Formats: sequence, C-alpha cells, structure tokens
Amino acid sequence: MSGAVEIYEGAVDKGLEGVVACTTGISSIVDATLCFRGYTIEDLAAKSTFEEVIYLLWHDKLPSKEELALFRRELLAEMTLAPEVVKHLQGLPTKNVHPMAWLRTAVSSLALWDADSQKLDLENQKRIGKRLTAKMGPLVALFERTRTGKSFVAANPEKSIAWNFLNMLLGKEPDAEIVHMFDVCLILHADHELNCSAFSARVTASSMSDIYSDITSAVGTLKGPLHGGANEQVMLMLKKIGSMDAAVKWIKEALANKEKVMGFGHRVYKNGDPRAKILRKMSEEITKKTGQPHWYQMSALIDDTVQKEKGLLPNVDFYSATVYYSMGIPIDLFTPIFAVSRVSGWLAHVFEQYANNRIYRPRGKWIGKEGLKHP
Ligand code: COA
Repeated sequence: MSGAVEIYEGAVDKGLEGVVACTTGISSIVDATLCFRGYTIEDLAAKSTFEEVIYLLWHDKLPSKEELALFRRELLAEMTLAPEVVKHLQGLPTKNVHPMAWLRTAVSSLALWDADSQKLDLENQKRIGKRLTAKMGPLVALFERTRTGKSFVAANPEKSIAWNFLNMLLGKEPDAEIVHMFDVCLILHADHELNCSAFSARVTASSMSDIYSDITSAVGTLKGPLHGGANEQVMLMLKKIGSMDAAVKWIKEALANKEKVMGFGHRVYKNGDPRAKILRKMSEEITKKTGQPHWYQMSALIDDTVQKEKGLLPNVDFYSATVYYSMGIPIDLFTPIFAVSRVSGWLAHVFEQYANNRIYRPRGKWIGKEGLKHP
C-alpha cells in the first residue's frame, strides 16, 4: 500500500488461524476427535458427570471415589448465593437487557463480595474457581426469576449442578432423564481447546489480573453470535422458518444471499464436530419425549441441505438449540447456559496460564497514514 510504513514485516494471520499461541494440556482436537485430558468426549459423555469432568479439567486426572466426594461437597456448597448478593443482583435492570450482558455484570460483581479476590496463590485460585463454577447456574436462574417476577429458588447442595440449574430456573423438580441429558450437555460444552473465550480469559490472566476479571472477559467474548451466541440464533432461525415445508427453500436462499447459517461451520473441525453427533441423537430423543419431534426433523433436513449445498457440517450449537428448547429453557438463555458449563474450562485455562505465564502482546501490521503534521 503506498505511503504505508512497514513496521512489522511478518505475515498477518487474520483471525489468528493456524497460529499456535500457547502449549496446553487441557483439551485437544485432532481431526474429528475431541479429548479432555486424554479422554474422548464420547467416553466422558457416556460415563462421567459434569462435576467429575470439572475435577478432571482442573487436576489433570480423574478423581478417586473419595476425592470426587470431597470435591463435589466443596463445589456444590458454593452454589448458594448470599442474601446480600441476591438483593444486589435483583436490583439490576432486566428489561430489554440481554442475559449475557447481565451475567457479565453479575460475574464481575461477585468479586466485590470476595475479600481475597486479588490473591493468585494456588489455593485461592481453586477456591475462586469453585465459587465461580458453582455460582454460574444460580446466577442465570436468578436473572430469569427476577425478570419474570418470580421468587428466587435456593440451591440444594445435595444435588448436582445440572439438577439445581433446572430446578432453580423452572421452579419445579426436574425429570431425572432430562437432568441426565442436561448433565451431558454440560460435559460436552466444558472445554474446547483455544476457543475465542478461553483465549480471552488467558489474555486477561496473562497480565496477572485477577480471576474474576479473566472470567468476565470470557463471558463478554462468549456473548458474540460467532461464538456462544450461535445456539440462540439457531432456535430463532428454526422458528422463523416455521415448518419442514419451508426449510429447504429458506436455507437455499440464505446461502445464495451469502448469509451464514447459524450452527454450521467451524474454524478447526473440517470433518465434523463430535459433539454435534451426540447432540443430534439427544435432540431426536428429547423432542420425541416432549412431543415436538418436528423440531428435530426440521433440523435434520436443514443439516442435510447445508451439507449438500455448501459442504458445511453442524457444530455444537446446531442441535443443542432444540435440546434446550425442549427442556423449556427460554431461547435467550441458551448462551448463558454455555457459560454455566464453559466456566469450568475457562478456569482450567487460567490456572494453566498462571502456572506458565508470559504476557500476550502480539504485533499489529501498520497500514495507516504516515508523516502527517498538525497544522
Ligand atoms: N453458513 C454459510 N456459510 C458459511 C458458514 C455458515 N455457517 N460458515 C462458514 N461459511 C462459509 C463462509 O462464508 C466462507 O465462504 P467463502 O469462502 O465463500 O467466503 C467459508 O465458509 C469460510 O468461512 P469463515 O467465516 O472464513 O470461517 P471461520 O473459520 O472464520 O469461521 C465460524 C468459523 C464458526 C465463525 C463460521 O463458520 C460461522 O460464522 N458459523 C456460524 C456461526 C456459528 O455457528 N458459530 C458457532 C461456532 S461453534
């Protein structure tokens, strides 16, 4: 470009595609195989629980029976929100407020009730980790109960994060099969290598900022429609399409207009997202169970059409939309639910970052004007 000063000579990788920004031992993606700490996502979805997966992500090993019992006890005790926190958060605006904007503020404000929020010793990292992971579900439930004028449901530390989330959100004891499905959803979303929000958490941690700041950054990043916001957009799209009959034409037109079909494509998976396969089966089962099989059928038709027309495969967001919808979860809470799970992975990433830190400071290639003089 004429007149530009070339300060940095290296190539620009827009979106950092293919750039390896750090070493990590938390989760790996090789072709269409996703592993957490060496265990495949299929194995964990079939045999583990969300609480056990959190332990695995943070400790680099599966817990013994005793270790898991202790970890669960300490973690689940942290689900309780103190009355003064509830009161403060109930005072925040909810009208015309996106739940992720509210959640970002709520996560940040939890630091104000933690006298040790700035301490970064290992013990304190794990304590804040449990605090934030356990409280994310109750925070989302509090938002929903507040905006709909319903009273807050207290956490039951005898029950899992999945059970509590559904109970606190919907205000009634959840069906055991649905709780199990939701627990599997939490496992599937728990971590995903150096995704956009985990990276932003690590960037914040790399300045040796505090954990509340790291997780607030991550919530803000997850909010975007190209990342965690896609599952909400999928359900809105399905509703807009309205019926099986309209689906193929609608999708073909969208693709012809160069619109992005939400829930498809992935920066890393070019041969399919393994989580989408598990969620597809779950979507089929749950929509049948709740008497709304058309949502799955319409999704499967769109899946076939996008594959045929554009060669793109569904990602984690595509079938999770109909799964959450069938659970009775409001559509704009789909992305906050992602945070309820992913907070565990973000924390694993910031623990890893603090343990082997160097501040992130890449370069920008100058393409602007040069040599101007103020008149
Ligand atoms: N629908 C239609 N076309 C899509 C598409 C989608 N969902 N995803 C990618 N494409 C197309 C792009 O338009 C582009 O086409 P072109 O080469 O003709 O310009 C090509 O595929 C490459 O896409 P690009 O946006 O460069 O990929 P990326 O790696 O930068 O982005 C995503 C990856 C996930 C952000 C992108 O696929 C997307 O926006 N998907 C929809 C949002 C979504 O589901 N996000 C959740 C991710 S888990």
